[in-house]
Formats: sequence, C-alpha cells, structure tokens
Amino acid sequence: MSERAAAQKTADDHVRAPDNRPRKVAVDGSAASGKSTIGRRLAEQLGYAFLDTGVMYRAVTYAALERGLSLQDSGSIGELAQTLPIDVSLDCDGSGTRITIDGSDVTSHLRSQPVEDAVSLVSRIAAVRNALVSRQRELAERQPIVMAGRDIGTVVLPDADLKVYLDASIEERARRRYADFLAAGDEVSQEIVLEDIRRRDRIDSEREVSPLRPADDAVIINTDGLSLDDVMDRVIGLVRGGK
Ligand code: DC
Repeated sequence: MSERAAAQKTADDHVRAPDNRPRKVAVDGSAASGKSTIGRRLAEQLGYAFLDTGVMYRAVTYAALERGLSLQDSGSIGELAQTLPIDVSLDCDGSGTRITIDGSDVTSHLRSQPVEDAVSLVSRIAAVRNALVSRQRELAERQPIVMAGRDIGTVVLPDADLKVYLDASIEERARRRYADFLAAGDEVSQEIVLEDIRRRDRIDSEREVSPLRPADDAVIINTDGLSLDDVMDRVIGLVRGGK
C-alpha cells in the first residue's frame, strides 16, 4: 500500500489491532539474524503491515551513490536524506517493503554490492537517522505494524507493545547468508560473507548514534540451532502473551 493510500485508509477508518494483541511490534537484530524474514512472516500471520527499515537506509545509500556523493560528506548525505522524495510501500501481503524515489521503483537496486558496502557508513550519519526515524514513526501511527531494524525497540518505537531482539552467533548468521546467496545463484565465498557480517556488526554496534543493542524490555531470542518455524513459534507465543 502506498503512503498516500495508507493515509487515506487511516482517515477513512482508523484500523486497530484486536484489544489483547500488541499493536506495534519491534523486531531488532544484527545483520542476517533473520529479523526481516521473521518480521514479515509475523506481520502476515497477524494481518499487520510490515516495514523493513533497513531498505530505507539502503535507499538513501543508493541515492547518494547515484549522485556521486562522497561517503565522507555527511553534510550532503544528511541533506539528501532530509529532502529525498522517498515513497515507502508498506508490505501488506508478504511481498516485501518497496521503495520508490522520484516516482521510480528502486527496490531491485537496494541489495547490490555497492549499496551493501556503503550502507553501514551512511546509517551512522545522525541527520540521516533523524530523517528516517521520523518517517518510520509516522508510518507506525497508521495501522498495526511489525517493524524490523536495529533501533526500533530503543529509539523508533520505545513504546512498542512487544519487542523482540534476535541474536545468533556470527558463524550461524554467515552460514545462513551464504545459503541465501547460493539459492539466489550468486557466487561468493563463505569467508567473504563472514568478514562482511563482522564488519557490519562492528560499525552498527560501535556507532555513536543509536548503536545496535537490545532494548531493556526486549525479549532476546538466540536463534542458534533453531529453525525459522521454531523462532516463529516462540514469537507467536510472545504475541499471545507468553514469556
Ligand atoms: O537490515 P539491513 O541489512 O537491510 O540493514 C542495512 C543497514 O541499515 C545496516 O548496516 C544498518 C542500517 N540500519 C540501521 O542502522 N537502522 C535500522 N533500523 C535498520 C537498518
């Protein structure tokens, strides 16, 4: 659903979650922790919208690279994030969050290697985070939502009704990411995948603004050795009010 359509829907009938269910769900975690897959599945099961906030950081990164901006030029990248006409289509049918910039759908470019290499650096810029966090909060006011990211429970939605933080060892995450690449027909070495995750972990957790960390009231699930179905069962249990 486009942002405009979502706003209209809100104006027409304010959609609410059934009383006893969490209306805002935060799913945070490190790179390749499974947060997007789990978040998307959970949203589908609950009939909620899903927002993968990582694609918004990727969209700003893509636009900065397209414009030839230096990654060291935080001023220009921050300004770009504040002014870029990004339209975010919330995922309401399991198809994934889509991003349109200036009317053209750029979603298929957001996982390219140049974006992959630069996105952690762009996400460190305070002005970028301020711009995107406000948009994310606006989107969360419109309908029940599952939002996946790094700082949803700590910064974007500190009032989320349920906060889940997914964790797994770096080896397990690299193994999963490598399997995804193989399934997509991409040739890449396992060592490079592991090194890339290690690099992103370091930048995401050591940055000054909104570093990656679980919220004090998040439920931490270590997914080592668990299947997606196991993790989903656990998360659905939490939605139903379990511990
Ligand atoms: O989840 P992902 O791999 O698509 O995220 C891409 C980058 O965006 C990641 O390096 C960290 C950043 N990010 C962030 O800083 N805060 C978020 N809420 C989501 C993503």
